[in-house]
Amino acid sequence: MIKNDRANFGSKIGAVLASAGSAVGLGNIWRFPYETGNHGGAAFILIYIGCVLILGIPIMVAEFLIGRHSRANTAGAYQRLAPGTQWHWVGRMGVLAGFLILSYYSVVAGWTLQFILEAATNSFAGKSPTDFINAFSSFSSNPWQPLIWLVVFLLVTHFIIVKGVEKGIEKSSKIMMPVLFILLLVLATCSVSLPGASDGIRFLLKPDFSKVDSSVFLGAMGQAFFSLSLGMGCLCTYASYFRRETNLSKTALSVSAIDTFVAIVAGFIIFPAAFSIGIQPDAGPSLLFITLPNVFQQAFSNIPALAYLFSVLFYVLLALAALTSTISLHEVVTAYLHEEFHLSRKSAAAIVTSGCIVLGTLCSLSLGVGKGYTLFGLGLFDLFDFVTAKLMLPLGGLLISIFVGWFLNKRIVCKEISNNGVLNRPYYRLFIFILQFIAPIAILFIFINGLGLF
Ligand code: PFF
Repeated sequence: MIKNDRANFGSKIGAVLASAGSAVGLGNIWRFPYETGNHGGAAFILIYIGCVLILGIPIMVAEFLIGRHSRANTAGAYQRLAPGTQWHWVGRMGVLAGFLILSYYSVVAGWTLQFILEAATNSFAGKSPTDFINAFSSFSSNPWQPLIWLVVFLLVTHFIIVKGVEKGIEKSSKIMMPVLFILLLVLATCSVSLPGASDGIRFLLKPDFSKVDSSVFLGAMGQAFFSLSLGMGCLCTYASYFRRETNLSKTALSVSAIDTFVAIVAGFIIFPAAFSIGIQPDAGPSLLFITLPNVFQQAFSNIPALAYLFSVLFYVLLALAALTSTISLHEVVTAYLHEEFHLSRKSAAAIVTSGCIVLGTLCSLSLGVGKGYTLFGLGLFDLFDFVTAKLMLPLGGLLISIFVGWFLNKRIVCKEISNNGVLNRPYYRLFIFILQFIAPIAILFIFINGLGLF
């Protein structure tokens, strides 16, 4: 193992919670439900789980071992493990992807703050469905309001990053993740016990394969990479702070299990509540910000206090989940600038925060006053989402599996997986086989089909 005096996560549970914090985010509670709604429910979920098992877990272990062995930021990691080669570009592409995701992700993260405020001041009460549509479109196209929240969200992230790995990232995850789990379970229990919730539960459990085509596979793969924070060196950066005793395979299994569990439970909050008042599930990205406030009001119309509490707690949940993820995205870019350009951590973080405020502002405006400006038919916000989730992350995953499967010395791989011979490694051969053949072929196949290249 390469030695240096880098920061570490103080405990194993801290490492798991921080990584799970990165994985669990808007991807689970905002993106997963609308992708599931658009792609026919349970069939999409099954394909998604297949992607997590076959691609997600092995690639997560691969990222972990690259990070922990090199103990460097994601671009530096490849330089250390493959000096004099071009592999460092995989790391640099990851840094760019992290920067782009953080920019548009913070826009939505900012919306959650506005919605906490609205829920807390009871301004959802008495609104009609049309009022919700109008309120959201006037908010998201307002040139100023979303920008203020974007800046607030990025500054909170900045503050935690500047505190450092143990006192900032680890400590905040240890507080926020348990709160998030409790909120999630309380909300899901309320939602499934609503009258008429069974249609929503059926939608989540009964697959309809007639809606499955190649775009569903691309959607599920992109969602798996996005949701597990894979393919851009995020977990590689976090693993560079893992201790020697951390069991990489077990951590990857725990993080993937937690992430998938949260996504599915989020489905159990949203769909039963939506179906209980007869709302269709395929509302797209606006599901969480237009459909849901309306759903909460109507579903709990008999008990207004519950509608109030449910709304406030739901948007707090969303904001916390988003925050643990923006922290990890920020850390990828900050660690890169700090280590590769020898900037202080504070200055590196300041550059990332300011850059994201500028780019995030453009993304936010692209949903309002800048709607007319498109590239390849997409506004900046949608373009960033498409290019990162559906192109850069799977491409990063493909290259990471080739790097560990074919290029990296197998002694290093063995050493990291077994913690220097201390742990058994019963699935080692399967792991290598997946990285060498299954993952690259599957990703390429889904890419080519999903993008309609043939
Ligand atoms: N996994 C996060 C989510 O599901 O919201 C988003 C994300 C975080 C993607 C970190 C990529 C990443 F590196």
